[in-house]
Parts: sequence; C-alpha cells; structure tokens
Amino acid sequence: MENIKLTITSISFLAPVQHDLQVVDSIIRAQAEGHYPGLSLALDLILKSGGKRIRPSVTLLVGYMLGAPREKLLTLAAAIELLHTATLIHDDLIDNSLLRRGMPTINSQWSPGATVLTGDFFFARAAKLAADTDSIPVMKIFSQTLSTIVNGEITQLFALKCHVDREDYFSRIYAKTASLFETAAMTAALISPANETTIEDMRQYGYNIGVAFQIVDDILDFTGEQQTLGKPVGNDLQQGLVTLPAICYAEANPDDEDIIPLLQGRCPNPNQMQRLIDAIRKSSAPECALKEAEQFIEKGISKLANQPAGLERNCLEDLARFIVHRFK
Ligand code: IPE
Ligand code: IPE
Ligand code: MG
Ligand code: MG
Repeated sequence: MENIKLTITSISFLAPVQHDLQVVDSIIRAQAEGHYPGLSLALDLILKSGGKRIRPSVTLLVGYMLGAPREKLLTLAAAIELLHTATLIHDDLIDNSLLRRGMPTINSQWSPGATVLTGDFFFARAAKLAADTDSIPVMKIFSQTLSTIVNGEITQLFALKCHVDREDYFSRIYAKTASLFETAAMTAALISPANETTIEDMRQYGYNIGVAFQIVDDILDFTGEQQTLGKPVGNDLQQGLVTLPAICYAEANPDDEDIIPLLQGRCPNPNQMQRLIDAIRKSSAPECALKEAEQFIEKGISKLANQPAGLERNCLEDLARFIVHRFK
C-alpha cells in the first residue's frame, strides 16, 4: 500500500483522482473474490506493489472533464486498468521477465500454464467490467482493443528480429500500447454527454500520449535503472527488438561496424551487441527518440484545446507532459 501512496501523491496531477483511484483498486480487487484463492493473492500482490495507474487516470480525468456519470466512470477505469494488468501478466511470461513493480512476477513463481490462466481470468473479468458500463460502443471498442493488443504481441513475437524498420516500429507500439491509451480516453468520452468531434479529439489525445508513452518506455529500457523502474532493463535489443533509440542510432551512425548487421537484418554477435547497447546509451539517440516523443505529446495536448478549461484539462496536460519526464 505504501508504494502506491508514494507513487500517487508524488504526482500532483493525480490529486483530483487520488481517492477515485483507490475506489478503482477496490473494484479491481473484488473481481477475484469467490474464485480460486491464488487469483486474489496474485492480484493483491500486483496492486500493492505499485504501478502508476496512468491509464485509469486518463479515463477519470477525461470523464470528469466531460461530465460522465461517476459510477460508470469508475467501473470503466477499473476495466481499463485490469485489462492492462492482464497484459502485463502475459507480457512478463512472454518476455521471460522475473521482476515487475519491484516484485517477483507470476511467471517466476508459477508454471507457464498457471500464469496464462491467471492472465485469461483477468481478461475475462476486465471484459465483464466493460460490460457493466451498459454501453455497447464501449464493449465493442474494448474487445477490439484486446484483439489489437494480442495481435500486436503475437506479431512482435514472430516478427523478424534485429530488423530496423520505422514503420514497423510505429505500428507495433500502436498495437501494444497506444491502442489502450486511445481506448482509455475515448471510452470515457463515449459515456459522457460529448459530441462526435470531442470523442474523436479524445481518441487522438489518447493515441498520441500512448505512442509517446511506449517511446519513453523504450528509451528507459536503454537509460533507466532496474531499481527505479522495478523491472529489468536493457532487454529489448538483446531480444532482437529494435526500438526507436536503436533506430535513431542506426540513422545517425550507419557506418558504425556494430550497427551494420542490424542494417542488414542480422543480429549482432554477443560482443557486438553489448558494445552497441553501450554506444546507444552514450549517444544522442535516446535524446533524439525523446524529441520524437515530445512531438506526440504536444500533438496530444493540442487535442484538448476545445475542451472546457479547468482543473481536469490542466491535469490532462500535466499528465501528458509527465510521460516524457518520467524516470519510471
Ligand atoms: C508498462 O506500463 C507496460 C507498457 C505498456 C510499457 P506502465 O509503465 O504503465 O506500468 P505500470 O502500470 O506503471 O506498472
Ligand atoms: C508491453 O511492452 C506492452 C504490453 C504489456 C502489451 P513492454 O514489453 O515494452 O513492457 P515492459 O517494458 O515489459 O513493461
Ligand atoms: Mg515486457
Ligand atoms: Mg519495455
């Protein structure tokens, strides 16, 4: 609990939704009650160990800005965060990652089978919460988002490794991350008294900050500290996953002999790989990727311009800016 409080209170734009985020956590916790006890324990551990709650905060702030009914909004925010939680459970199994939010992952303690089933269970409960909003459009978007994320993850799994391709990168990060941010913002507008233009603006706000969010996650994989992030770093390129910092590096240093295999679509040998990761870390590539993320953030913020000025809009702007200034 301490961890969550620390995270939330240190981020001032979450102050207006801080109480609601605790309600959201309790709605999520209730989803495991009355089922196999291990599911409750697993969920409890994930919720207690931290997490920024950035997606449900987007939902709550957009909803309050647009006048959504509180109860539906809380249910929707819980659906979004629970969907995110389920994707993390499966993602850590796929990535063979042993640490999440500073705690051992489910796959580090349970068999792959049990981990898959735990993720499945929470996907199902997230869908149930989405249905509890009684909004058919929300249910449709929600299920579409789930298929987009899963399709993105399986595409990434089977994609060519060590392949430098900007277009491919941006379509991947849309699928795995930006699609859920888009849904977090857009569905909040859908349950509000908002017109088509506003719903579309909110979709684009979510899309743009979501793309930036994954770019920064990919930068932090090069520049971050495991201690701060609570998850392993330096893994993406090792696994053959070419993210924006590596793409920026390849564009600026096409003659570096360690980048040549990547430009030819081959994975560098282990020595070259380690040198390359060190070189990317020390180069201006993370900064170059950050500049691109900042452009998405500014575009996202511009989509708020026609919304009512006030606390929620300011917080949505601050939340967007936080994405490119975060260390975790
Ligand atoms: C991690 O998301 C997965 C990505 C899409 C990069 P977050 O960084 O939002 O994870 P938590 O919820 O704060 O732990
Ligand atoms: C995870 O992306 C995206 C989803 C959970 C769908 P990453 O693999 O980059 O996330 P982290 O770095 O493990 O949090
Ligand atoms: Mg991962
Ligand atoms: Mg990552």
